[in-house]
Amino acid sequence: MQSVEHLQELFLKYLKNELFDQSPRELYEPVNYILQLGGKRLRPVLLLMGANLFSEEIDHALPAALAIEIFHNFSLVHDDIMDEAPLRRGQPTVHIKYGQNAGILSGDAMLILTYQYLNQLKNPTQLPTILQIFNQLAIEVCEGQQYDMNFETEESVEIAAYLKMIELKTSVLIAGGLKIGALIGGANEKDANDLYEFGRHIGIAFQLQDDILDTFGDPEKFGKKVGGDIAQNKKTFLLLKSLEQARDQDRVDLLEALSDAADPNQKIEQVTSIYRKLKVQEQASELMEDYLKKAFIYLDRVQVEDARKVYLRNLANQLMMREI
Ligand code: IPE
Ligand code: IPE
Ligand code: MG
Ligand code: MG
Ligand code: MG
Repeated sequence: MQSVEHLQELFLKYLKNELFDQSPRELYEPVNYILQLGGKRLRPVLLLMGANLFSEEIDHALPAALAIEIFHNFSLVHDDIMDEAPLRRGQPTVHIKYGQNAGILSGDAMLILTYQYLNQLKNPTQLPTILQIFNQLAIEVCEGQQYDMNFETEESVEIAAYLKMIELKTSVLIAGGLKIGALIGGANEKDANDLYEFGRHIGIAFQLQDDILDTFGDPEKFGKKVGGDIAQNKKTFLLLKSLEQARDQDRVDLLEALSDAADPNQKIEQVTSIYRKLKVQEQASELMEDYLKKAFIYLDRVQVEDARKVYLRNLANQLMMREI
């Protein structure tokens, strides 16, 4: 079994060798830029961990791990255009640095590169199954992103609809990556599906934490613009719970801050202070804990010895406490 650090290192070494120095430079430079900007490398590491649960030989899972990381970065490049985000991993976003058209086209190229790496499976008979899993999650990410944008202009959104939205935009990629890794490692369908469910539940908790950090993160560490979700009227768990629970003057203030007329910085300050008063961060953390517990039920079901699951369990626990 390999530690998270070791898998990260293995992945980074592989990535470094695969960077793109083709022409035209204007297309590939943004691809290399975003891929080298850092980040936690969570999804490729989870894919490798999925493979490593069932096999000691994990090198042949590296192309699929890179495919998933490229897809993730593609989704971020386009997400940052849609969310008008200036910062990513502490640096200018691709569309700010290279322009919006470069962001669109380099993102498109990254989506194609994803398929090129998926196509490098050592055992090609697995390709139809793995492509089916990937295609499903990829279209679901688009669905989730569309709901996320639709909700910006909706006055009220049910918590259940929000949870479905974050499952689609964030957790299916984490879940599907784990499942693909497991299958590459030789897992049977039942174990691969249990790992998918484990990933789906930690993915939902992961996005809840992302929402928390977007408001309460330390700007020095977070790497993205703190308050971005509030500025964009994102229907996060924090906002939905506040809309549900704010009374009297708080309610008036909240609705006024959300109106178009509000100054962005004042809006962020005002809404954040209502979040603090209503303790919605604590409510989000409780829900994350629930999802983490459910996730572990699925991990427990996977038919490999407990000792092999330790790194995965520790990583899931650490993710809930992350600051970046
Ligand atoms: C950001 O993902 C997008 C979300 C789904 C919240 P990460 O927080 O994993 O971003 P990096 O790759 O580590 O920068
Ligand atoms: C991003 O959700 C999900 C995808 C990129 C598919 P967010 O918009 O919350 O992600 P960040 O906060 O910009 O990383
Ligand atoms: Mg965003
Ligand atoms: Mg977004
Ligand atoms: Mg976010």
